[in-house]
Amino acid sequence: MKNEMILVLDFGGQYNQLIARCVRECNVYAEVHPYTITLDKITEMAPKGIIFTGGPNSVYLETSPHYDKAILEIGIPVLGICYGSQLMAYMLDGEVATAPVSEYGRTKVTINTSSRLFHGIDENTDVWMSHTDYIAKAPEGFTVTGHSPVCPVAAMEDDDRRLYATQFHPEVTHTREGRKIISNFVYTICGCKGDWKMDSFVDEQIRLIKEKVGDGKALCALSGGVDSSVAAVLMSKAIGKNLTCVFVDHGLLRKDEGDQVEAIFGPLGNYDLNFIRVNAADRFYDKLKGVEEPEKKRKIIGEEFIRVFEEQAKKIGAVDFLVQGTIYPDVIESGLGKSAVIKSHHNVGGLPDCVDFKEIVEPLRMLFKDEVRRAGSKLGLPDHLVNRQPFPGPGLGVRIVGEVTSEKVKIVQEADAIFREELDKAVLEERPGQYFAALSNLRSVGVMGDFRTYDYAVVLRAVNTTDFMTAECCNIPFEVQQICMRRIINEVKGVNRVMFDLTSKPPGTIELE
Ligand code: XMP
Repeated sequence: MKNEMILVLDFGGQYNQLIARCVRECNVYAEVHPYTITLDKITEMAPKGIIFTGGPNSVYLETSPHYDKAILEIGIPVLGICYGSQLMAYMLDGEVATAPVSEYGRTKVTINTSSRLFHGIDENTDVWMSHTDYIAKAPEGFTVTGHSPVCPVAAMEDDDRRLYATQFHPEVTHTREGRKIISNFVYTICGCKGDWKMDSFVDEQIRLIKEKVGDGKALCALSGGVDSSVAAVLMSKAIGKNLTCVFVDHGLLRKDEGDQVEAIFGPLGNYDLNFIRVNAADRFYDKLKGVEEPEKKRKIIGEEFIRVFEEQAKKIGAVDFLVQGTIYPDVIESGLGKSAVIKSHHNVGGLPDCVDFKEIVEPLRMLFKDEVRRAGSKLGLPDHLVNRQPFPGPGLGVRIVGEVTSEKVKIVQEADAIFREELDKAVLEERPGQYFAALSNLRSVGVMGDFRTYDYAVVLRAVNTTDFMTAECCNIPFEVQQICMRRIINEVKGVNRVMFDLTSKPPGTIELE
């Protein structure tokens, strides 16, 4: 059975994924596509409704994204949001102008509650605005269904043609009744029944994978990260022993991580799959010998990873499908015409190009990270794996400043394990989005037990971030920092100094390299 689908047409606004998310919270499947998608393709996909997203520009700019007006005439309901609403007005010969007063942030609008879009919404409701242009005059045939003191057309519609527009953003939580508005659109206007549920997602995917892969063989590069683990388990439930997972331990993982991954997926684990662990640490350390430049290190690690994976794939031979843990934000990176790039599973390089696969299988490509975590829990993956914080593909290679050696890897693994253990048990106002220990290449003089030391300085980093694009140092209580410092110095050989990194991003990045 094909799910009902709402198509979110991306004009470059920052909340595109939130829109899709809101629709899915209504139990209706949503897909975001760039505005460059053809109308033929849209018709073929047969969405139940279309949502035009916001966007940063004025509709009058030549460089601004536009769309064929015919999209408004194919009988599929359309909701335009912010730029999308202005675009709808512009396409139908309404008037869009620079607003005398820009509106940013929370605003009260008065809406017409007899509109099907606003059924059950307060007549005066709080919404989130973010615009400099506005619709000065609605197109012919449209009724104005909302206004604010400075925005004459905060909402408009032509119910007969099933075209609706809001200048405000129903998808952000600051729009108090935004969820209800989206729900009215997908249920009342588009006639969706709500057939997409996380609970059924797992069963449905297993069925689809079985259908697609049949008796074919599939190969999965398993890193132990959330996405690849969930993808592997889904595949394994669907095709059992026809799946082979290759786990490349590059020697740059966190303490005991390789063994943890093996315990779950290996022969003694819970899943009926062929698991190959390749302990390739020495190969990686060899290649990294004497290399200090961060980008060079990244490239070497990425390249070597591909080589190891390729060798294994060749040994197995005749593999039809490559499984990737691609998730939704990977598919539509920043929207705006960027087509879906097949992203390297491991995040450290490209796909092996001398291994032939008939097809790529990406069972998670419609999910957001937290949805992937929920799917993982449903599949019975342990909490510590499902709730893992992000870990970069090049691993500790980018957490050791300068040359990587096995000695330094050991130091940073031990220090990191202590730091994470202490933060995990500490009572914190807020859990940091990412936290880890890194190793600076600073060696300094200290005194321990009456002896002079000349050892490394460990850097502790804990940041608050949700999107990982910006980050602020997390306020870790001083006592907790002190405990970490004492334990690291006492327990980790080769360290005589511990520093706490206060830098936000920007100007710093989260990882040290
Ligand atoms: P930065 O250091 O750029 O990191 O602020 C932002 C987020 O991306 C992760 N990161 C990487 N992930 N390969 C990855 O798969 C990489 O080369 C890489 N570099 C950084 C980082 O851990 C953080 O979550």
